[in-house]
Amino acid sequence: MTYSHEELITQDQKQLHPLHHPNTHRDPLMVERAEGVWLYTTDGRRILDGMAGLWNVNIGYGNKELPQVAKEQMEKVAYTSNFAGMTTPPASQLAAKLAGYAHPNLNMTFFTSGGSESNDTAFKTVRYYWRRMGRPTKTKIISRTQAYHGVTLAATFATGIERYWRMFGPPMPDFVHIPAPNSYRFTGNVAEGESVAQSAARALEEMILREGPENVGAFIAEPIQGAGGLVVPPAEYFPLVREICTRYEVLLIVDEVITGFGRTGEMFALPRYGVQPDIMSFAKGITSGYLPLGGIQISDEIREAIMSAPPEEMWMHGYTYSGHAASCAVALANIEIIEREGWWKIRARWGRVCWRGWKRWPRSSPRWPMRGAWVCCVELRWCRTSKAALRMMRRPCKSPIAPSPRGCGHGRWATPSPSPPHSSSRPKRWIKSSPP
Ligand SMILES: Cc1ncc(COP(=O)(O)O)c(C=O)c1O
Repeated sequence: MTYSHEELITQDQKQLHPLHHPNTHRDPLMVERAEGVWLYTTDGRRILDGMAGLWNVNIGYGNKELPQVAKEQMEKVAYTSNFAGMTTPPASQLAAKLAGYAHPNLNMTFFTSGGSESNDTAFKTVRYYWRRMGRPTKTKIISRTQAYHGVTLAATFATGIERYWRMFGPPMPDFVHIPAPNSYRFTGNVAEGESVAQSAARALEEMILREGPENVGAFIAEPIQGAGGLVVPPAEYFPLVREICTRYEVLLIVDEVITGFGRTGEMFALPRYGVQPDIMSFAKGITSGYLPLGGIQISDEIREAIMSAPPEEMWMHGYTYSGHAASCAVALANIEIIEREGWWKIRARWGRVCWRGWKRWPRSSPRWPMRGAWVCCVELRWCRTSKAALRMMRRPCKSPIAPSPRGCGHGRWATPSPSPPHSSSRPKRWIKSSPP
């Protein structure tokens, strides 16, 4: 049975959406199909998906190989339990593929269904590890302002954006925040002769000392903050952070949920800084959104703590959909496509095109600061005379560029991070379709 656009919109009134408020869901895009970077809606609109889904459609929409891989795997076995004692070929092959893939010290993978579950798993694993080391008080997690780590209870309070916790308080006591190294709007104190990166790293050390190193289990950070405004840290930041974490025996969790699997011009974003984490969380781009999958990778030390545990101290953690066979098969094929077609290189090239395009945007001026590496953003600021930013945010869904839900939510920034169109499309067409 086919339904009209209006009927579908009426049916959708029964759905509670992520970040739901009726004001932001009055005229939703009813997406019927998608191709390359374009979304096609049931009321005949073609929309440039500047967000690439939610930063996850890394190889673009409409790929024909991945549905075929999913079909073949589903015909064999779509899903079976992956709890200890059972496994499937795709889950095993994917774990083997990922061993040492991002960092030489991360050789063991646990699979989840998405980024929030991955970070929750990371926090539990931190607690587990320190308990196994005989240091059960090391439970605190230091995160950063404007960080986004997901929406499970723990991930919500690791997130450094107050709007996400406001109605879900009281805050969980084990999460504390320090300023992010945002050179444009840094909230920390920069001492004489100090850089923003040094000050932000000093804030980490001061927080560890304030909470007591014996109470701090881990520091979590995205290599590039996404939802918080696309904050690319200065080059010296992560080496300083790594040194401080090592000095105070605090685990470093890197959240590569949006930056992993070719989004930033490299396969992963942290290696660019020459730093190894103790835990890495990932999701999104591993399947380019064709099926849900996420996970964490753990260092050899943490692996050893799990492997050498007596039965009464086993790692009692797992999800029904951990290691979902069809998702893992799609992930393997997706990584193969990213490697074969060199998507991180394509993205590096397109990042430069995007950057130049934004610079030509007439409103670009010091009032409209731009940030980016291989993803770009323009910070939309309240303009008292033209009120331009406000107008754009009030009418997100009329814009020819798909709305960024978090951008709309904060009313501050647009984060275009498109998957480039297939090679047949020319850059010019893409740029022309950007909003004026
Ligand atoms: C950096 C980061 N971590 C974690 C998450 C949460 O992932 P998910 O929405 O798959 O739970 C997101 C989602 O956007 C993210 O950007």
